Amino acid sequence: MTGRFISFEGIDGAGKSTHIQAVADWFRARGADVQMSREPGGTPLAETLRDIVLKEPMGSLTELLLMFAGRRDHVETVIKPALAAGRTLLCDRFTDASFAYQGGGRGLPLSVLNPLSDWVQEGTEPELTLWFDLPAGQAAARRASAREADRIEQQDLDFFERVRTGYAARAVQAPRRIVRIDASGTVEQVGAAVLAVLADRYPEC
Ligand code: TYD
Repeated sequence: MTGRFISFEGIDGAGKSTHIQAVADWFRARGADVQMSREPGGTPLAETLRDIVLKEPMGSLTELLLMFAGRRDHVETVIKPALAAGRTLLCDRFTDASFAYQGGGRGLPLSVLNPLSDWVQEGTEPELTLWFDLPAGQAAARRASAREADRIEQQDLDFFERVRTGYAARAVQAPRRIVRIDASGTVEQVGAAVLAVLADRYPEC
C-alpha cells in the first residue's frame, strides 16, 4: 500500500498554513486517513533542531545541514511509515524549501543541494506540491500583522525575492509535481484555486 505525499510551499506570509487545513478537510471528507506534519520539524529530534535553526546565529551551510539532518529523521521515522500505511501525508514545507531558502535565498549551490537531497530522500518525493506564490512585499505586509519574526523571517525583501525565484526555478524543473497557486487573492479565492487543483489531480476521490 502506498499513500499520498503532498507538500505545501511558499515564502513566509504567503498563507500556505491557512490552506493546509482545508486540504486536510477535503481528503477527510472523502474517507482518506490524513496525517499532517511540518518541516523543519515533524519528529522530536527535528523539532529540537527547528528551535535551534530558527533562533541561533549560524552560517548558511550549517543551516542547510541542520535542515537536512532533521529531514532525514522525518523521512525515516514519519514520512515513509505513513506512506507505507496508506495515509495521506500533508507536509508544511519539504525539500523545495531548502532549494528556495538556502539555495535561492542564501546562495548555496546546486552542487551541494542536489547530492544532499538525493542522500536524504532516497526517492521519497511528494507527488504534489502546492506552491503559494506571492510578491515578497505583499508577504511581508501579511507577516507584519500576524506575528513576531523568527531568525529567517527577519531577512530583507531582497532575500525573500530570491527565495521566490528559487521556488520558481524548482517549478520549472518539476512542472507536473509543483503547481503554482496565485496567493495574492483573498482566502476564499486562493482556497477555491486549491480545491480546483485537488479536483483535477484526484478525480477518483
Ligand atoms: P515555517 O514552518 O513556514 O514557519 P512558521 O511556522 O513561522 O510559519 O518555516 C520556518 C522557516 O524555516 C521558514 O522561514 C522557512 C525556513 N526553512 C528553510 O529555510 N529551509 C528549509 O528546508 C525549510 C523546511 C524551512
